[in-house]
Amino acid sequence: MPGTTPDPRSPHRGRAVRGMFASIAPRYDRLNRLLSMGLDQRWRAALVRSLPELVPGQRVLDLCAGTGDVAQALHGALPSGTVLHASDFCEEMLKRTPAKFEPGAAPRLTVGDAMALPYADQGFQAISVAFGLRNIESPQVGLAEMARVLAPGGRLLILEFSRPERKIFSAFYRFYFFRILPLMGRLLSGSEIDAYRYLPESVWAFPSPAEIGREMEQVGLVVREQRRFLMGAVVLHVADRVAR
Ligand SMILES: C[S@@+](CC[C@H](N)C(=O)[O-])C[C@H]1O[C@@H](n2cnc3c(N)ncnc32)[C@H](O)[C@@H]1O
Repeated sequence: MPGTTPDPRSPHRGRAVRGMFASIAPRYDRLNRLLSMGLDQRWRAALVRSLPELVPGQRVLDLCAGTGDVAQALHGALPSGTVLHASDFCEEMLKRTPAKFEPGAAPRLTVGDAMALPYADQGFQAISVAFGLRNIESPQVGLAEMARVLAPGGRLLILEFSRPERKIFSAFYRFYFFRILPLMGRLLSGSEIDAYRYLPESVWAFPSPAEIGREMEQVGLVVREQRRFLMGAVVLHVADRVAR
């Protein structure tokens, strides 16, 4: 499949990122389970446990939804009567979502860019983004859009990779992340695009949790928690939009 490996530092990488995910979409889920040794589903479950209390009629959005793993986990936890939406700019990824749901239970899907969300202001009580923020060309613009469509009092839940904090673990992790993972990814992804070289490079180029916290505050959110998993290799950021 034609395409190039995105440059994680390029502010114009959106098209290459979309092409990269399209090229790995058929094997994305299996590779996630294998390369994270099953931990990815535990991290998504932790995100779901941090949902705010929801009442029937309220809407929840999973952004950068990919193949729908977070939407599937959310679905099991949402009270009946809440409405789940899922959006991604890569149709090849998003179209794998309905197969994970009972007929009629799939979320409402929208193909769209997180930097220009096709939703009205203040319409969602909760928004989740798992392993997506780092991939958005401008995370700041994405965060501003999330804050815009979040209802006052609503909650933003962002799960994202980060650089581990402990030196010894970090050395071990870097070896796995920069050497082993790209090799396995290349062998197993069936894509010529080096998605699993882009992954560690994009994590190392991404702002620290403290910087992400500041950026969330800049768009009017109050950071409630930044919970670290795997010695800081993954962080769950929980922030609320101030209630008016
Ligand atoms: C690593 S995948 C994560 C998918 C899913 N959230 C998960 O937990 O498996 C990142 C997703 O973000 C999407 N993405 C990247 N930039 C985007 C943007 N600007 N707007 C919408 N989706 C975007 C990609 O298409 C991809 O499906």
